[in-house]
Amino acid sequence: MARKIVAGNWKMNLNLNDAKALVQQVSQQNNREDVTVMMFPPALFVADVASEANGIKVGTQNFYFEEKGAFTGELAIDQIRSVGGEISLIGHSERRAIFAESDELLKRKVDAAVDADFDFIFCCGEPLEIREAGNQETYVKAQLEAALFHLPKDAFLKSVIAYEPVWAIGTGKTASSDQAEEMHAAIRSWIVEKYDATTAEKVSILYGGSCNENNARELFSCPNVDGGLIGGASLKADAFCAIIDSF
Ligand code: PGA
Repeated sequence: MARKIVAGNWKMNLNLNDAKALVQQVSQQNNREDVTVMMFPPALFVADVASEANGIKVGTQNFYFEEKGAFTGELAIDQIRSVGGEISLIGHSERRAIFAESDELLKRKVDAAVDADFDFIFCCGEPLEIREAGNQETYVKAQLEAALFHLPKDAFLKSVIAYEPVWAIGTGKTASSDQAEEMHAAIRSWIVEKYDATTAEKVSILYGGSCNENNARELFSCPNVDGGLIGGASLKADAFCAIIDSF
């Protein structure tokens, strides 16, 4: 069985005081031991959030694949770890679209994470025009093949996948549970093809894109949806905890 996961991607929101208050409230309110809860605050706050977190895995929204050196503005895995960060997102659609992160770069990040034994959530998802043309499965499969499916089984088993249709992110327009389930089932079938059925059952596949306290229950009840990567609704403790409780 894949682990149930609810992860909050705070993006470029909140200041230090808000960040501490949010992690304290969620730590207090959440009592679900069967759900792995994660938070991805702005990197600047990872140390503070990690030190306040109780039963929550804290990580970064991004990192660079090099170990150290002249890479102004970037963060290395070892630096993230040294302040309590245990995981990172890789390839969020905003990194791909706004910061022009290529499949090639994402593959290097995946490899760097695996080499350092650092956990990650690999994000994929199609833009609106691809969905409208009905090519979403080809598109998402290509993203996975370009930067994730090259891993050997042992390394792949440690990854978490987040399917986030770009047209649903921050738009208030959620994928229907049928649309989510269809893509998640397809992703799982590609894992069976590439690796095997046992591997496919163990890897968590999260849904992201306007997932909130009102629709999480329906999305999480889909057999192939193992949880959510939550943006906007992760910024309020009550909403985020209600999403965790939706399982
Ligand atoms: P959203 O963001 O929940 O605000 O749509 C999800 C994400 O980008 O991870």
